[in-house]
Amino acid sequence: MQAVEIKKGIYWVGAIDWSLRNFHGYSTNRGSTYNAYLIIDEKITLIDTVKEGFADELLERVSKIVDPAKIDYIISSHVERDHSGAIPFMMEHCPNATIVTSLPNGLKGLTAYYGDYKYKGVKTGDSLNIGSRTLEFVTIPMLHWPDSMVTYCPEDKILFSNDAFGQHFASSSPFDDENEFSVVLEEAKKYYANILMLYGRQAQQACKALAAFDINMIATGHGNIWRTHIAEILAAYEKWSANEPEERALVVFDSMWHSTETMAKTIAEAFTQKGLPTKFYDLKETHISDIVVDVLTSKYIAVGSPTINNTMLPTVASFLCYLKGLSPKNRQAFAFGSYGWGGQSIAEVEDCLKACGFDICLEKIRIANIPKQEQLDAITEKVLAI
Ligand code: FEO
Repeated sequence: MQAVEIKKGIYWVGAIDWSLRNFHGYSTNRGSTYNAYLIIDEKITLIDTVKEGFADELLERVSKIVDPAKIDYIISSHVERDHSGAIPFMMEHCPNATIVTSLPNGLKGLTAYYGDYKYKGVKTGDSLNIGSRTLEFVTIPMLHWPDSMVTYCPEDKILFSNDAFGQHFASSSPFDDENEFSVVLEEAKKYYANILMLYGRQAQQACKALAAFDINMIATGHGNIWRTHIAEILAAYEKWSANEPEERALVVFDSMWHSTETMAKTIAEAFTQKGLPTKFYDLKETHISDIVVDVLTSKYIAVGSPTINNTMLPTVASFLCYLKGLSPKNRQAFAFGSYGWGGQSIAEVEDCLKACGFDICLEKIRIANIPKQEQLDAITEKVLAI
């Protein structure tokens, strides 16, 4: 794919990772992109690089527009290697470039990862004149690394947002209005849930800081560039980062011989009877990174596991471990499961839910062997009473 001119003199020169299906544990069923942008002005500026394995593609796209040796600045918005991985390679071809990075953490991170180059540290409020344009920097610490930073260009009303507002979504059409909007938003929501949910407070602060800017394009670090649905994605971030779950329920389980599954179905039906939109996920069938998208919006979460070898099933343990890392607050949860003898898994699941910071809204439900109808009726009553 060729470079794409996204505004006069500003080019997308990144890379499309069509085949990516796992981004450190996040299932990326639609691939991803590593977006980098080249600004042609008196001072030629590259905003971000790409993942290391795509460095050749970046260089090729840049070289078709300008001699890389003429690049004056490489702005590093974020040290994570999907954006910074090609810095050493690019610096071999851009000997005159100064790397612009956030203070203190960008500078600390890049130096630790890649060693000494010509660096220029910036913080919120600093700006860089590159000729007919000014680049203004806003650090957004912990969205989602300590060094994270965005760059705003007032002359073009464009925000280079790096991970914020991004999506793991590979497409030969780089703009939000060139793809199905529901798909782009769905991927943005999945990205927020899996990468940023832990940092809702920081996302709120960032949204507040960015509200001061007049933006007509958000050039993200992954996926589509927003130029038509800007209001929608900003509103979605306001909503998701507020962490105010909706009256929705989520039932997540794995089962060995269908007993825990039968309990899960009864719980899901009871939630539905209460009038709550309910999602039902068998961990054998659904990836944990898809399930946490519903954790983002659901107030009630029931997690079930049978007991195997005195503990919970590994699929359930994996889900709970992932959930604890993302740790959304303001959730009501409970544990359930069947067992043959020990039954330790159900208490373990409950302990994990407590460790997630959830309020336990129902005493753990344990049923030995195959659930009987009266036991299932009792579950229904308990769930209806929550
Ligand atoms: Fe897309 Fe946090 O790197």
